[in-house]
Amino acid sequence: MTTNSTGEQTSISTACGGNQSDEGKLWGGRFTGATDPIMERFNSSLQRDKIMFKEDIQGSIAYSRAIERAGLLTAEEATKIRVGLESVLQEWTSGSFVVHPSDEDIHTANERRLKELIGEVGGKLHTGRSRNDQVATDTRLWLRSHLGATATWLLDLIKALLARAEDTKHVLCAGYTHLQRAQPVRFAHWLLSFAWWLRGDLRRLEQCYTSTDQCPLGCGALAGNPFNIDRKALAADLGFSSVMHNSMMAVADRDFVADYLYFATMLCSHLSRLSEDLSLYSSAEFGYEQLADAYSTGSSLMPQKKNPDSVELVRGKAATFIGRLTGFLCVLKGLPSTYNKDLQEDKEALFDVAFTLTDLLGVLTGVVTTMRVNTEACRAALSESMLATDIAYYLVRKGMAFRTAHGKAGEVVKLAEELQKPFSSLSLDELRSISPLFTADVSSVWSFESSVEQYSSDGGTGMAAVARQMELLHSFVESFKLGAHVENFAS
Ligand code: ARG
Repeated sequence: MTTNSTGEQTSISTACGGNQSDEGKLWGGRFTGATDPIMERFNSSLQRDKIMFKEDIQGSIAYSRAIERAGLLTAEEATKIRVGLESVLQEWTSGSFVVHPSDEDIHTANERRLKELIGEVGGKLHTGRSRNDQVATDTRLWLRSHLGATATWLLDLIKALLARAEDTKHVLCAGYTHLQRAQPVRFAHWLLSFAWWLRGDLRRLEQCYTSTDQCPLGCGALAGNPFNIDRKALAADLGFSSVMHNSMMAVADRDFVADYLYFATMLCSHLSRLSEDLSLYSSAEFGYEQLADAYSTGSSLMPQKKNPDSVELVRGKAATFIGRLTGFLCVLKGLPSTYNKDLQEDKEALFDVAFTLTDLLGVLTGVVTTMRVNTEACRAALSESMLATDIAYYLVRKGMAFRTAHGKAGEVVKLAEELQKPFSSLSLDELRSISPLFTADVSSVWSFESSVEQYSSDGGTGMAAVARQMELLHSFVESFKLGAHVENFAS
């Protein structure tokens, strides 16, 4: 007995300790010593990768067809294998699959069980295949279908932002730079800025889909397949758009996982920035919005508190995602060619990020949909000093060069401060003492509505420009189809 780092007692057996579980191993032939139980636990990825049970069976069924076509299985053997695989699948879905201590991973577990169910013929399934091409295939299949679901959740969040933009398009609030009040903007314009970011994230998701949608199966351990299987037919059977053309690269490649982690990290960083704004804007100091009770928590000590934990968690998860991405890039960068067990870390990162992201998108969609926007508080954040730029624009429209106009507007600010008056209370004479270009129509400058409306060029906060943004985003959301651009299989 010894004690491990967590203080738990573990039994370390010697190399010839006679571990019973070694009997079930798929690679036991050349071994005389048994695996130490602590090594068994350390080596096993089943708790993580059993989530891919369906994809593993799907890959095996397709592979059985490939080797049947190549004449390695009789029709009868192939049918027996496929019926057996369906039974294994059924055991997983019904929750009756019994894990064996020697089941290293989902591939080992399924093959072991298949052989128990159909006997020795089950051993033919792995002909020419390795867990190296198998795990890469399963992970790609899993991610490919998960990307489809992720795209839907992401589109739902964009739709939620669009819906709130529609119902707040008349609400004006302060826009900030350096977290200082800068210029009046539409609340909807702020919301839409995040919808545009998410649109970029969907583009990155599409790129990840393209790198995922390639078939490594049929590449064996590293050198390829020696039985002349039809890899194109195998890939098509699994719905992949293309085969991977170099077996050494195919078994070693996890760029698609890194692409996913990067996509998720960028997305989460955008959501974290949205969360930061939501958290600030829900404080009494801003009061622009209030999160629904459903997405807030209370304090165990201060009864009056309503804390925006939902968005704080999103911000926190963004940090974890960066760690996952960075950690996984570190795994990849120093690996010797082809498969190395370090690659098993891909699933730790992938599944953790994927499932967290699912929750996170659901939570934020709820937050955005249910938050209460306080129109009056938004309006109250506007002060005439935020129209200083508009004074300069007024003078520019009268023919003055912007640089000069900026200086003149600065003088107006100074004068208003000296006289302790808002701009709109300055008399025409006082304004004309600064520039003769000021005339009675300057009164139109003292309106937050007309200030916002002047930004009518594409991308601006004027109503027409905001409506155009919404139109573009709506048509993007309606026409988005994942993988639509992927090159045809035949090419
Ligand atoms: N559990 C392994 C992984 O996730 C599967 C591949 C193992 N291959 C091997 N040659 N040991 O990477």
